[in-house]
Amino acid sequence: MAVNLSGRSFVNMKDLSTEEVWEVLKTAEALKLERFRGQPHPVLAGKTLAMIFQKPSLRTRVSFEAGMTQLGGHAIYLAPSDIKLGERETTEDIAQVLSRFADLIMARTFGHDIVEDLARYATCPVINGLSEREHPCQILADMQTIWEKRGRLEGLTWVYVGDGNNVAHSIMYGGALMGMHVRIATPAGFEPDGEITADASAIAGTKGGSVTVGNDPLALSKDADVLYTDVWASMGQEAEAQSRRGKFQGFQINMKLVKTARPDVVILHCLPAHYGEEIDYETSRLPNSAIFDQAENRLHAQKALMVLLARR
Ligand code: CP
Ligand code: NVA
Repeated sequence: MAVNLSGRSFVNMKDLSTEEVWEVLKTAEALKLERFRGQPHPVLAGKTLAMIFQKPSLRTRVSFEAGMTQLGGHAIYLAPSDIKLGERETTEDIAQVLSRFADLIMARTFGHDIVEDLARYATCPVINGLSEREHPCQILADMQTIWEKRGRLEGLTWVYVGDGNNVAHSIMYGGALMGMHVRIATPAGFEPDGEITADASAIAGTKGGSVTVGNDPLALSKDADVLYTDVWASMGQEAEAQSRRGKFQGFQINMKLVKTARPDVVILHCLPAHYGEEIDYETSRLPNSAIFDQAENRLHAQKALMVLLARR
């Protein structure tokens, strides 16, 4: 059956099926090629994207805004101080009102329940631009990058080293959907959510992949196809940053880990990076590192997502 995502929201990585993820990745590849050739593609002309941010952003804001411009549409940035989500009026009313003006809503929120509520009450598609639980748009761009570098996803070993956070959760779901072997290495007490681990593991089991969670970064990095990390303290955890520095020692992507991985390992980081903490600068600049291709692919993957989700 042909894939039809028109009118759907994208709040959780597992909102998409394997086939639907491939549709996004192939559409992203086509849009990237057109942009490279200088071919305009104003397929969302006249459409408006409303972007709600409760937290700072470089990549998410600029890639969505530039992406919408390249598709012929318009994006409106709503800063935390603009709408005061949850303070000035209810999430339900914001969703209802924005749906009368905009064709798509993207939201970066603290609580995952906020982006879920936006999707529940909006009458247009809602995209999760990062919540405390997931960062699914990031993982679409990551998978596009891995596919470009390695020519496939199924069967590859995707190792994540660091905090069992929103990015780790979406990697577990994304990798599981695509039949990959996901290994998550965190310090004890910083493992990903247990329910998500069980759920992603069950999905992986139906796709020929697997999900493993442990506390030994070196052992888990053995023969990795992809080595990935993210900050030790996420946005909203600034007060814990200092104490986490002590607890996360050894959970760094560096030459020691790279040497235990495959020689053609792809090194990824969703950025922003704290060099000297979760990754060292030297390792981030190796020829194996694709961190800036990965950042660029936010643009292409999210353009594909918007084209596919927008109502026709
Ligand atoms: N990776 C990512 O989402 O970056 P920003 O926080 O800058 O949007
Ligand atoms: N885990 C990080 C990702 C930033 C893109 C955070 O939530 O701050």
